[in-house]
Amino acid sequence: MTFTRRAFCAGLGGVAGLALTRPALAAPPTLTARKATVQLAPEGYPTTEVWSYDGTLPGPLIRVPQGGRVTRQLINALDVPTSVHWHGIRIDNAMDGVSGLTQDPVPPGGTFDYDFAVPDAGTYWYHAHKNSMEQVARGLSGVLIVDEATPPDVDRDEILMLGDWLLDPDTGAFVEPFANPMTMSHGGRTGNLVGVNGQYAYGLTAETGERLRLRLINSANARIFGLRLQGMSGWTVALDGMPLDQPEPLTTEIILAPAQRVDLIVDVTAAVDQPAALLMAMSDDSWQALVEVTVTGGRTPRADPPAPLPANPNTALPDLSQARSLEIAMEGGAMAGMDSAVFEGERLDFRGLIERGQYWALSGQSGLSDTPFATLQRGEPVRIKLVNRTVFPHAMHLHGTHFRQIGPDRTLGPLRDTILSFPDEPLEIAFTADNPGKWLFHCHMLAHAATGMTTWIEVA
Ligand code: C2O
Ligand code: CU
Repeated sequence: MTFTRRAFCAGLGGVAGLALTRPALAAPPTLTARKATVQLAPEGYPTTEVWSYDGTLPGPLIRVPQGGRVTRQLINALDVPTSVHWHGIRIDNAMDGVSGLTQDPVPPGGTFDYDFAVPDAGTYWYHAHKNSMEQVARGLSGVLIVDEATPPDVDRDEILMLGDWLLDPDTGAFVEPFANPMTMSHGGRTGNLVGVNGQYAYGLTAETGERLRLRLINSANARIFGLRLQGMSGWTVALDGMPLDQPEPLTTEIILAPAQRVDLIVDVTAAVDQPAALLMAMSDDSWQALVEVTVTGGRTPRADPPAPLPANPNTALPDLSQARSLEIAMEGGAMAGMDSAVFEGERLDFRGLIERGQYWALSGQSGLSDTPFATLQRGEPVRIKLVNRTVFPHAMHLHGTHFRQIGPDRTLGPLRDTILSFPDEPLEIAFTADNPGKWLFHCHMLAHAATGMTTWIEVA
């Protein structure tokens, strides 16, 4: 048996419309990392033993009002150490969950109390941040929603956590090893089974004319999704949790890199029984339904476009005229290579790096160094040029604060926490270093992060 989306799609028509099967809003005050057995592959295929939060995949939905607190005791019931990172939250550094930088990993049988304020409304997620390349691929992630005090005028708010899994179709088990030199040195671990909210054939039902908020989250290890709507039209209203100043009409394909989120507000335009779907681009340039929407009735559509989401509190633009300029170069990987880099304090040539499992570097440094890439003063504006000297795209993520891309005309783009960098297309980001602590900056293709493409900055 092989996994292809087309093969799976046949015979799955009846599954569309299943409700999300996780224990939704009543989340417990604990979050237990543990093994569980779930049906990831379509019915008829074997079940999969996953590493989960609270036994479900994705983990339990955590939903709090803006300005509230997230309080969870992590209980580690796995056989390996772990920690939880709250991706995109402008968080107290001690709660950021980065094993080896902001906390010690939680040993098997241990606990850690996460307790932090959430200043910004939006769509976020949480995931393991210890050996993430393996732990996230095995299922350790979930959704974190911070609700606006006044929600937008929509009929429904739907969460769509996109992911992929690399499974052996005959056993249902994850393909091992997770640390595979071939995938680590190339694009990363890409699954052979794509799904949404932990299900292969996740679907929705809706009525013609309904207005939906769709919160898309890319939880995949390495896959970049190309997405398009069918039978729906709408607007982008937020990126990486942060509202756009104005809703932007959706006219082109949505590119969603690993860890990125996009909030859409869409109107269902398809008539009853006409096709409606979130489509994904396939490698052969065709489009296939990733989330089928079954259209069951009709109502009068809203006449007006949606209002912008209420702005979050941290939207002041960094002062470019005062900004310190830094440059971070992405280096290494298959087909580009690098002469040498420093790893654990030692300068190694390419062969030496590979022997130590390092395929990538950021500006000549593979993996974390004892000292930060840069130390910024609190409140200091900074601009960082990102130069991609590899032949692969990289989804570069900064912890603890959002940044903006500097446009060619020095205009500042929307706030983001993860930006996709393409070879030979340098880009520049800017932010004000207003959150004190030690913050990771790394590629969210998790195999790249694990094999060199990780650094950190300090805000004093
Ligand atoms: Cu979403 Cu350092 O991670
Ligand atoms: Cu990368």
